[in-house]
Amino acid sequence: MSTSSRLSKNVLATAVLVGGMLMLALSAVACAPVKEASTAPLFAAGEHDPAVWGEVYPEVYTQWLATQEKRPAGKSEYKRGYDGGVMYDKLSEFPFMPLLFKGWGFGIDYKEPRGHYYMLIDQAEADPSRVKAGGACLTCKSPYAQDLQAKDKSGLFAATYGEAVEMIPTEHRTLGATCIDCHDTATVGLATRRWTVDAALKEIGLTEDKMMKRDTRLMVCGQCHATYSVMKDGGQSVDVDLPWEGGTWGAITVETIIENLETQKPRLEWTQEVTGFKLAFIRHPDVEFYTAGSTHFDAGVACNDCHMPRVSIGDAWVADHNIMSPLKRDMVACKGCHTGSPEEMRAKVLGIQEESLTNLIDAGYRVATVAKLFELANRSLETTSGDPAYDEAAAHYRQAFYRMLYMGAENSVGFHNPPEARRILGDAKTEADQADAGLRKLLASKGVSVPKEIALELPKYLSDRGVRKLDFVRGDYIPDPSGAAEKTWSNSLDLLLR
Ligand code: HEC
Ligand code: HEC
Ligand code: HEC
Ligand code: HEC
Repeated sequence: MSTSSRLSKNVLATAVLVGGMLMLALSAVACAPVKEASTAPLFAAGEHDPAVWGEVYPEVYTQWLATQEKRPAGKSEYKRGYDGGVMYDKLSEFPFMPLLFKGWGFGIDYKEPRGHYYMLIDQAEADPSRVKAGGACLTCKSPYAQDLQAKDKSGLFAATYGEAVEMIPTEHRTLGATCIDCHDTATVGLATRRWTVDAALKEIGLTEDKMMKRDTRLMVCGQCHATYSVMKDGGQSVDVDLPWEGGTWGAITVETIIENLETQKPRLEWTQEVTGFKLAFIRHPDVEFYTAGSTHFDAGVACNDCHMPRVSIGDAWVADHNIMSPLKRDMVACKGCHTGSPEEMRAKVLGIQEESLTNLIDAGYRVATVAKLFELANRSLETTSGDPAYDEAAAHYRQAFYRMLYMGAENSVGFHNPPEARRILGDAKTEADQADAGLRKLLASKGVSVPKEIALELPKYLSDRGVRKLDFVRGDYIPDPSGAAEKTWSNSLDLLLR
């Protein structure tokens, strides 16, 4: 069988437009095994080498290799990851983050994502504080994670980052997400390959027999684009676990996640320096945010429909494996289902992102202000924890912080689920304001005077970070699209931006 005939078997339109109306034919996209089940396996079990897969699928291999290319500049406004070959510093984009993350690696070095080719390379190049969790760090970054875990889980988790990388065959120590991460070696059908995902799906009752094709398509991305905790036993990392317990497919909500983070002690990974609180962390909750009732999820759309549009190569149509933002590819992915011009579709995305950004930035500075109020309270009050007013404010603060964290970590700047973004950030602001009011009242009752605008001391948290002495990058800063933040927190922001 020639490559092109193998590919063209999968060629099916994702959607057709009839009289300007949307007519989805999504069942047709279901990833039929590329190979008949009765014939011999296409690749040996455990074939990690993409070059071997590339002998059968040269076009896909070429696209996959292209994830290392820099992205065109000027197409995305707010997700500039390797655009024009520049890497963007998330802590300079959102200066409230380094204040809130002070105390561990994320407050030192936190960059916008770039192509899949770089995932291990970027880990190696990050500040050493970012890989303190050791072998656990490979879970989402190396196609060998599953193999190492199956062979000797405790050995993998006890290893330092450097030791764990050495467990990977030499030639693949920089290999990022590759064919075997998303495809079955025997049939090339889609499949996940991580114990973390098996455990999480079991927790939400999505067993293999219940999984629809669309669910598998979402979960091949969701096996890494999901939040997780590096579970701690004392100072030791013992597992990587998705906080999905109590959720259901289509409703792994931010509330579910926070409930797990707040009630399961092994999830407390770090101490926030400004407040002194022991906290959990939320990383890229992309599949959770998207599946929490978004319009596109409800309509049966999966990640690859927007991030891997079908492109024609010779006489075949191939899902483009140079996975990237649809904006950086001039919105071709939307065309299959929407009649709007690329300019109109881009404007829709930016409009949604700008609303979400305004809310995120507003929530971010409110939460940061409360953190500084806690710093003041811890310094000036005799009793802190144990005082009911203090504890109540702390509980509101944690709820606000986690919501803001969640929205700051999901990767679409609100686009994947606009109403959910609005809801979560609205709640973050309400919780932050309750904490703020409670703390101010408590401080006033003890005779501590509190200025209206708390000095956030942003330069203190942004400059001189880590062993590389990272600094604020003015050009990376993302102003509030509504302009409100720069007015409301004018003293603190002037100090940074002047
Ligand atoms: C093995 C884990 C893994 C899998 C599977 C995975 N991703 Fe990623 N993805 C990552 C990591 C890690 C990064 C950031 C890499 C970096 O910055 O070094 C990333 C980055 C991206 C980016 C940014 C690319 C760019 O050029 O800036 C997009 C878009 C993306 N992923 C979408 C997807 C989609 C869609 C799927 C499923 C088809 C998927 N990912 C599957 C781990 C994964
Ligand atoms: C309806 C289309 C659509 C679907 C479905 C979709 N995305 Fe996105 N995604 C977008 C858009 C639009 C952006 C914003 C990109 C930008 O601003 O450049 C984005 C951004 C991202 C980014 C950041 C890209 C970058 O360049 O840094 C990642 C990662 C990502 N999505 C992963 C996913 C995952 C995982 C899923 C499935 C759970 C998914 N997306 C589903 C449209 C979609
Ligand atoms: C991050 C996940 C991911 C990685 C890595 C990945 N693929 Fe895919 N692949 C997909 C998805 C998603 C589809 C689309 C399936 C669908 O339409 O339902 C796909 C489709 C395919 C198809 C079917 C033809 C088509 O284009 O629809 C082939 C063949 C294929 N991939 C081969 C490969 C090879 C070879 C590699 C490694 C060089 C690779 N893939 C890496 C996710 C991935
Ligand atoms: C596989 C089909 C499909 C693809 C691909 C797709 N959409 Fe959609 N989209 C839908 C459906 C179905 C709806 C719901 C019906 C409607 O509102 O038109 C929708 C609704 C929307 C909405 C309004 C609802 C909301 O969530 O705000 C926006 C905006 C949107 N799409 C933008 C995009 C953009 C931008 C892209 C490309 C990056 C895209 N879509 C790709 C099918 C798709």
